[in-house]
This record gives sequence, structure tokens and C-alpha cells, in this order.
Amino acid sequence: MGDEVKKEAPKNFKVTIDNITIEVPPGTTILNAARQIGGDVTPPAMCYYSKLQGSGGKCRTCLVEVAAGSTADPRPMPKLVASCRTTVMDGMVVKNITSDKVTDARNGVVEFLLINHPLDCPICDQAGECDLQDLGYNHGKEGTRYEFKRRTFEKEDIGPYIQLHMTRCILCYRCTYVADQLTNQRVHGILDRGDHAEISTYISKAIDNDFSGNMIDVCPVGALTDKTFRFKNRVWFTKPVEAHRDCSTCCGKVTLWQRGDEVLRVTARKDEWGEVQSYDGKPGWICNTCRFDKKKTSDWVIEGPTKINRHSVISQGHYVGLQKPKETIADVMGGRDPKLLMDIHTISDVNKVELSELPGPATSKTFENGE
Ligand code: SF4
Ligand code: FES
Repeated sequence: MGDEVKKEAPKNFKVTIDNITIEVPPGTTILNAARQIGGDVTPPAMCYYSKLQGSGGKCRTCLVEVAAGSTADPRPMPKLVASCRTTVMDGMVVKNITSDKVTDARNGVVEFLLINHPLDCPICDQAGECDLQDLGYNHGKEGTRYEFKRRTFEKEDIGPYIQLHMTRCILCYRCTYVADQLTNQRVHGILDRGDHAEISTYISKAIDNDFSGNMIDVCPVGALTDKTFRFKNRVWFTKPVEAHRDCSTCCGKVTLWQRGDEVLRVTARKDEWGEVQSYDGKPGWICNTCRFDKKKTSDWVIEGPTKINRHSVISQGHYVGLQKPKETIADVMGGRDPKLLMDIHTISDVNKVELSELPGPATSKTFENGE
């Protein structure tokens, strides 16, 4: 008695994802642990958005294989799990890109997501910065096995700033969380279920509060796009520039998408996961005035070109200030450089001969004495 019970800080958990081990605080999800490693090890996420409470668990693109549950119970989990909703355990072993089962399941998820989604990338404003387009390239099939009609909807007007293309919606719920958590009244949500589910503003009520434009930024596809930018340009022809202004409503830190001196679009600044950046721990959502009404460079203090730090068609143009995404493949492959995986010298039994040192072309005699 009398001994004081000392409270110890909870120990970090060790988790191994695709052969890379890190330590994270208890309660961290597998997805967020993978984001700390970065690069290809990180599963794609179409519905999870770290700045929106309750997001995740809807799209299944973030599925991973848990090969060992924990040090205490190293049995594998019987099914693939959604990494955005599953927290790590100490000693957990997770497979993402090293698992054939995950690749297979993700291919299936993409096939399902594309069952109703139109392949209208050539006329869609989201093309070039669309998460589903990227997933389609990585996991999509050439054809479709679906023989029924795609879903169609009556056109719905949701106000002067945002264009809704319901046919493109993948029902990730992100926009409804924005409406719920950022604006003072939620005027839209998901109606009906299953094949009939759709987002709606109920009786086409216009979304007119100050932060509604953020729904455009969180939409992973082209279902919600900026009416003031519509059809004006392809995103890869525009130049992203960081700028700020003194704004009494929001943080005022934005990306201007310019063509020459013309500001075609204003968005929040995005991080490498495609989410809005945080400032002092707070998400940098921007208000509708900054987004839709300040379209002159003179409205802004220009900071300089945006550093593109994720795979993006915008970074393909040898863009100034490009930050290459972190490459993790060498770590995943136990230190081997992927370019050398097919190095003939290491995988062939016969080729022990340094061909480059021969005085002339190799003949069958060259290899006669090679073991
Ligand atoms: S409109 Fe976009 S953000 Fe909203 S549920 Fe559909 S896909 Fe998600
Ligand atoms: S990101 Fe995990 S289920 Fe959608």
C-alpha cells in the first residue's frame, strides 16, 4: 500500500507493412501508418478523408491483407480488411502491394466502381486529377462484363457555383460530411439505398453557405465540379500557383490555377494524399468568396509555383519545383533495386561471362566452359 501507481505513456505499436516496419501510437489505423511510410506502400483511399470525421469504410479501395494479427495472436485475419477502419496491433504484419489477393480484390472493387460511372473523362473537368481515373489505369479492365444499363438521373440544379453530375458519383459520402461538419446547415445527404442511392439537396435547395465550395475539393471524381471553371481548360494546361490573402472567413491560403495571367480556378491547397493541407493542426478549408469571387491576380499575394509532390499528370510537364514522390519499392523488395530484378547476371546459371569484356561478339564457344 502507499505505492503510487505510475501512469506510463502507452507504448508505441510496431507494425510491418510490405516488409517495412514502423512504430505508431496505439489507435492508428493501418492506412495512416502506411501514410507515414509513404510511397506505393500506402493503399489508395476514395472515401476516407482524414479531415472529415466519420469518413471511410464505404468504398473498399483501401483493402489490405493482415498476414499476422499481432505478436500476441499472430494468426492471419481471415478476410481482407479496410485499412482506413482497422487499427494496428503490436506486431501486426500487413501486405498491400506485396499481396496478390489485395491486387485481385482491388481490381474487383474498381470494376464495381466503374459499373455505373460513365467513361466520359475526355469531357470531364476532373480528368487529370481524378482518383478514379488513376485507379482505373492501375486496376481497370479493358472491357466491362456488365450488361445492364448504367444509372441515369434527372438533372438537378444545386446552385450557382457547383455542378452536380450524379452519374459520376461513387457515393463516398465525403461531400455530405463537408455539409454536415463545415456548414451551418446540412441541406444535402444521401437518399435511398443500393442501386437507387443518390446525393440530393432535397427539393433542389441551393447550397449557399460560405464553405459549400469545399465539396468540390473533397469529391474524388467529377461528380461535383466548379461551375466557374467548367469547360474552360484542361487541368494539365493550367499552372498551379500558391497565393494568399487576408480573409476574415477562412485561412485565405489557396492554389490559383492560371493560364498566362488569367486565374481560371481557385482551390484549397492539397497535400500528397489529395486532401486539403493543414495549418497549425487545422484543415485549410477555404470560403466561397476566396474560391469563386477572387479571380484576379491582384486579389492575391503570390507566393510562387506549387510544388507537386504526388503522381499527377500536372507534374508530367517537367514542372518547376517538382518534388518526386517517395519511392518505397526498393525497401519492399528487401533492398533490391526494381530495375535490377531481371539482371541476367544474377538470375541466369549460364551467364557467368562478362560480355562487355570480350574482344568481339560472343559465340557458343564463349559459354562452353562457363558453369
Ligand atoms: S458527389 Fe463526390 S464527394 Fe459526394 S458522394 Fe458523390 S463522389 Fe463522393
Ligand atoms: S478508403 Fe477505406 S473504405 Fe474507402
